[in-house]
Amino acid sequence: MIPKRPPLTSVVQEAISRFIEQQCGIRLGPEKGYLVEHRLVPVLQHFQLTSFEALRDRLMDKQDHEMRDRVLEAITTHETAFFRDRHPFEALRQVVLPQAAKRWQATRASLGRAAGPIRIWCAACSSGQEPWSMAMAILEWLPLCGVPGLAAGDFHILATDLSARILEQAKRGAYTETEISRGLTPGQVARFLTRPVGAKALQEVRPELRSMVEFRRVNMQEPFRTQGFFDLILCRNVLIYFADPFKRQICESFHAMLHPGAYLMLGAAESLFDISESFATERHGDTLLYRRP
Ligand SMILES: C[S@@+](CC[C@H](N)C(=O)[O-])C[C@H]1O[C@@H](n2cnc3c(N)ncnc32)[C@H](O)[C@@H]1O
Repeated sequence: MIPKRPPLTSVVQEAISRFIEQQCGIRLGPEKGYLVEHRLVPVLQHFQLTSFEALRDRLMDKQDHEMRDRVLEAITTHETAFFRDRHPFEALRQVVLPQAAKRWQATRASLGRAAGPIRIWCAACSSGQEPWSMAMAILEWLPLCGVPGLAAGDFHILATDLSARILEQAKRGAYTETEISRGLTPGQVARFLTRPVGAKALQEVRPELRSMVEFRRVNMQEPFRTQGFFDLILCRNVLIYFADPFKRQICESFHAMLHPGAYLMLGAAESLFDISESFATERHGDTLLYRRP
């Protein structure tokens, strides 16, 4: 019989938290004891364990990937929305996309042939609303941008996350009415979503969006510079969970992966203050953009 709420001692909490931080960078200090307990009780129940000590011991068994993934899944927050915060997408249309398009044109002119795609990376994409919003914003912007020859096929959005489960959901691109109503206008719903035959509750993204986005599992706690070079990196609402040394390490890699003049966008509550001085900060309305000089 599993007790409803087995006790979590500070020693065991520290061991579990240390393991989580080593695996994915999420820092859970002693003050987060309640959160750890609350989120991990369902994991205990799933594995029919009677104590947090037993959970810790299974976590320490490096072969137990199922346990590790369940724990990380339980601890991470996947909160997201279409066009989250709205104002960053204005900065995208007014500043980031026009500058990326200029770079694309200059490369094409110097090569004398088609340039490679404009690359955008959503580095913690959760259930996909962020990369799909990005693709929608690009498709809305393209007819107005006045750049001859630039088309949807010249954009590539890489969308990554730690969680394989949430990535499956993102890739499916199917959303409930509640999720859709959080951020999409009726015009965007009509243009970019479609109701699959027989589906009452869900609408899914149209193929023109799918062809722009690629999903991959990337844990930022592991080396990730092999993902290549980008015109824009979005890393929104995830750095807040990490300790400063880890934030510094990640931002240093982002800096190395951006083309000169390209941008990094963080979440509305995040900043590079005390984290990196390598970027030039630009304010556009309510949005802070970090540019690689
Ligand atoms: C709160 S969501 C943010 C989603 C989206 N960027 C937004 O702002 O709406 C945070 C996401 O970060 C992911 N995450 C946490 N640690 C990570 C890591 N080490 N590497 C990659 N993704 C991570 C989680 O799985 C979760 O989906």
